[in-house]
Amino acid sequence: MHTQSSANVVIPYYSSYGTTHKLAEAVQEGAADVPGSTVRLRRIPELPSAEEGMSGQDAYDAAQDEMSEIPRIEHDDLRWADGIIWGTPTRFGNMAAQVKQFIDTLGGMWFEGELEGKATGVFVSTGSIHGGHETTILTSLVPLIHLGMVFVGVRYSTNDQIMTTEGIGGSPYGPSTMPRDESEVESPTSDEVETARSLGRRVTRVAARLQDTPEQEIMPA
Ligand SMILES: Cc1cc2nc3c(=O)[nH]c(=O)nc-3n(C[C@H](O)[C@H](O)[C@H](O)COP(=O)(O)O)c2cc1C
Repeated sequence: MHTQSSANVVIPYYSSYGTTHKLAEAVQEGAADVPGSTVRLRRIPELPSAEEGMSGQDAYDAAQDEMSEIPRIEHDDLRWADGIIWGTPTRFGNMAAQVKQFIDTLGGMWFEGELEGKATGVFVSTGSIHGGHETTILTSLVPLIHLGMVFVGVRYSTNDQIMTTEGIGGSPYGPSTMPRDESEVESPTSDEVETARSLGRRVTRVAARLQDTPEQEIMPA
């Protein structure tokens, strides 16, 4: 019989205005729900060129201030983790440059195969409902596959939110939300939070299982 093993999970994310940050907290709650898990929330650092001249500088400064207590991601967080759940705002249908820049520092770990077989997933904040929720997750997959990670999406069969015809985020590829600054609706909505928690739980469980039976045993080279 399978006994529940523990999993270490890290959630590296970048957020300019705080929306992705809120979704990251929901993913963190879901991962922490799994007995035996240890979860780290980690901030991907800003690019020096982006610190000044953001549109909405006041909102940006307030969000950065709020997140200043969250430790910055280090390569050792990734080594420690059995599961890695990435968060990013959408930038022209893709991940933010800040996240890509951090991933581009992983050449040494890629060369040594250090991230191979770790469970992974992606969550996003996108400016509008048709602005790239799904493309951002799918295009983010490309480097994660190069790094040899095992991608985990969100369950279709038990996740009612994914069947929505309302303007809310969440797809089979992963959780998502939108900034709703002009709206009375808070971001993320309770449905979006639930999808984010479910990804946190699912990646953590897969990471624990992969630890019990390393990928090399399931899929030998
Ligand atoms: C350079 C740039 C490109 C963006 N591209 C898109 C886009 O392709 N589609 C979209 O819906 N929103 C786009 N947005 C809006 C962001 O996705 C939005 O600001 C983000 O979801 C807010 O997340 P945050 O609060 O975590 O920073 C873009 C924003 C910037 C600054």
